[in-house]
Amino acid sequence: MEKLTLTIDGQKTTAEPGMTILEAAAAAGIYIPHLCHHPDLKPAGVCRVCMVEVEGRQALSCLAPAEDGMVVRTVSETIDQVRRIAVELLLVNHDGDCLSCAQNNNCQLQRVANYVGIDEDRLARLRRREKALPVDSSNPFFDLDHGKCILCGICVRTCDEIVGVNALDYGFRGVNTLISTFGNKGMKDSRCVSCGECVVRCPVGALVPKVFQTPSREVKTVCPYCGVGCSIYLGVRGDRLVSSRGATESPVNHGRLCVKGRFGYEFVNHPDRLTTPLIKKNGEFVEASWDEALDLVANEFSKRKGDQFASTASAKCTNEDNYVVQKFARAVMGSNSIDHCARL
Ligand code: SF4
Ligand code: FES
Repeated sequence: MEKLTLTIDGQKTTAEPGMTILEAAAAAGIYIPHLCHHPDLKPAGVCRVCMVEVEGRQALSCLAPAEDGMVVRTVSETIDQVRRIAVELLLVNHDGDCLSCAQNNNCQLQRVANYVGIDEDRLARLRRREKALPVDSSNPFFDLDHGKCILCGICVRTCDEIVGVNALDYGFRGVNTLISTFGNKGMKDSRCVSCGECVVRCPVGALVPKVFQTPSREVKTVCPYCGVGCSIYLGVRGDRLVSSRGATESPVNHGRLCVKGRFGYEFVNHPDRLTTPLIKKNGEFVEASWDEALDLVANEFSKRKGDQFASTASAKCTNEDNYVVQKFARAVMGSNSIDHCARL
């Protein structure tokens, strides 16, 4: 299909058919502030911050399709005012301890507030009486801080459209509206599978990992947990792993991860991790050299054949390694008792 031609802020630009005004503007390098839009999700039109003017009429740019010949203004006195009020109403209900927030400098609300310009006096007048909203810290991997939530619904739509679990939804009404699990249980006791897909998409510091540190560098690798082979970036500080994130450019997982790939990297630096072979002597495990351990294994293997032998392989090995394990079991040990941890 032919490209569309439209004018945004006096700049002639082209867009693919089916694009929204917000997407067309982004493709042309024009920023329209937004909070509830996420490129992975269907638009919802919740925050009203992405308002633009199309031939004198106001439209939500995340919902309105770009059309051929359209003339769009992203800035005007009315638009600026609508946006400022929408953002101020969010800010007056938002816990503002930005410096200690995991999302500081990576927060869409900070970015949008800077863009629209906030009047501190008006905020002080509007700010409602401090009422501490609860933090749900029941999940072992991340917290949900209702005091920072802007009710954009990105987590709700992520859990529905991407994960398909529907653990989250809006609960209660009016000023008491909260993101809630079914029956308003703690996250740990809900249907949540702890994949963290909502955490990576939350635009503010409402859903944040319990452990967070900015890495000094990242290394791209493949998640070691199962045979899917998701691409991940492991964040490193010194010789410690401090973060893990999915590689969005990967055709295998498109940036998505399960709970193990996203949060399960701490075993690498765990002090209980085995780093040398252990051999049981007189009922006690004692450290041994690799030569000693491999001699013992070879010696024990030579005493057993057929049904006396079984093997279990690991998804943390390559396909080739696992092939060799089953070949060894069948051809050398004469056993078909072969298993693998990836089906767990
Ligand atoms: Fe939006 Fe985050 Fe609140 Fe969910 S928890 S509604 S993603 S701000
Ligand atoms: Fe369009 Fe929120 S981004 S309404």
